[in-house]
Amino acid sequence: MKKTLWTLAIGGLLALGACQTSPKLSESGLIPLPQQITDGSGKFELSNSSGIKLVGNSERLTRIGEYLAEKLRPATGYDIPVSYDAGEIVLELTGNDGSEAYEIQVTGDGVKITSSGEAGLFYGIQTLLQLLPVEISNSSVQNVAWVIPQGTIQDEPEYGYRGSMLDVARHFISVEDVKFYIDQMAQLKLNYLHLHLTDDQGWRIEIKSWPKLTEIGGSTQVGGGPGGFYTQEQYKDMVAYAAERFITIVPEVDMPGHTNAALASYAELNPGVNLPNGKLDSVNKAPLDYQMPLKNPQASELYTGIEVGWSTFAPKLELTYAFVDSVVREISEITPGPYFHIGGDESHVTEQDDYVYFIERVQDIVSKYGKTSIGWDEVATAKLLPGNVAQFWAKEENAKLAKEQGNKVLMSPAKKIYLDMQYDSTTRIGLHWAAYIELDSAYLWEPSTYAEGIAKENILGVEAPLWTETVTNRADISYLAFPRLAAMAEVAWTAQDKRTWEGFSKRIPAQGKRWDIQGVGFYKSPKVVW
Ligand code: ACM
Repeated sequence: MKKTLWTLAIGGLLALGACQTSPKLSESGLIPLPQQITDGSGKFELSNSSGIKLVGNSERLTRIGEYLAEKLRPATGYDIPVSYDAGEIVLELTGNDGSEAYEIQVTGDGVKITSSGEAGLFYGIQTLLQLLPVEISNSSVQNVAWVIPQGTIQDEPEYGYRGSMLDVARHFISVEDVKFYIDQMAQLKLNYLHLHLTDDQGWRIEIKSWPKLTEIGGSTQVGGGPGGFYTQEQYKDMVAYAAERFITIVPEVDMPGHTNAALASYAELNPGVNLPNGKLDSVNKAPLDYQMPLKNPQASELYTGIEVGWSTFAPKLELTYAFVDSVVREISEITPGPYFHIGGDESHVTEQDDYVYFIERVQDIVSKYGKTSIGWDEVATAKLLPGNVAQFWAKEENAKLAKEQGNKVLMSPAKKIYLDMQYDSTTRIGLHWAAYIELDSAYLWEPSTYAEGIAKENILGVEAPLWTETVTNRADISYLAFPRLAAMAEVAWTAQDKRTWEGFSKRIPAQGKRWDIQGVGFYKSPKVVW
């Protein structure tokens, strides 16, 4: 009897031990959750002789294989050669159709990731990295058994546009910090980074034909610090770095409001006309055809506060469109992605007729340079060009106007995924004009039912903006973006009927450990047992 109990106890311990070293595939801390996971039994273990075998035709395949090898080498200490000859980790590209779908098969002999698109292979790699013990994120050798549970994963995203936005205008964000953010986005399978490059407080991108934009307009930021800007070379470097991680940069020049940095740089862009009686009047009160430049224009003052809605370009001034044309042309020339964001939000001091006139002319300029416009939801009060996108942040009726015109909506509801909103009233930074957004609230919503009348077929995708009125450095970015960006990534990737808050809250601690190892100071939400 005693012996039987003893045997049972030992058996139990062994079973527990086996469980700990070989968890099920479906119990891995995967974020975003794949659409389908089928458990097998047993495990695969990486060893000193493991390598990566490439199958398929693409110049990029070697770089994709090297990306994986570079992620595996530091913590394992293994060589992980990449070749077309042999290797237990097979990366198989079966086509080149841009697909983001992938399949992973883990057997006792190895791991095979298959996709008909390079992006799909890349996402399979991100999943594989999350299937390994979290210590794989270390930059030095760890004494860990590098095991992966056997089974199969079939996966593809719900939405083709899964983005985040960095406001590099309110506070300038360095190239290194943007690259840090890109690396974090890649781990979450996000594929668009929207850079809010201009606002009242700063102009952050070099425009060669209008150099004072950065000389003057880039010289400060919220709170009066030194600001900064990206040269076109630095911007191109970020674009390339993002593209290597299957992330497309969307540049934004916010206009006609949020333009004080430009108005402080060039006096002649300021609204106002010389009336026939020699007096100066607001351009908003002048007839639309009255398009003379000012005789003695005054530049506005640089601005370092955080009020919104008080600046405007001069929609009736022809020079405004020559300016916009140069800016759109220069930025489009160094932006391979399809989109150009024209802002269009909170133009409270622009007359509505002038606003519509401005947006329609600017859309034409963007189209002339081969790009598709995205604008904040207010732009849907103008006639949108076919294919242009309205980014819903505040007004459902604007999203509906876009839909009624046959245009798609990008979902960024401020009450759910504005990453600069405080978690609660004790959060050390952030604002709360839209809501306090705890992690569960950031997770518990569904893009296809959030706004009345806006269904999945009307939606391009989902984007989480991070405004930086209160954000000054990487620690601040990390604290506000993580873990909420992971919640947003799952909302955008995983079908609603496959995901639950309960499941997410059990999987996010593994990601928390990865962030800890990577030195990412995320917010340890009390809603999760970390
Ligand atoms: C916005 O938050 N003003 C788009």
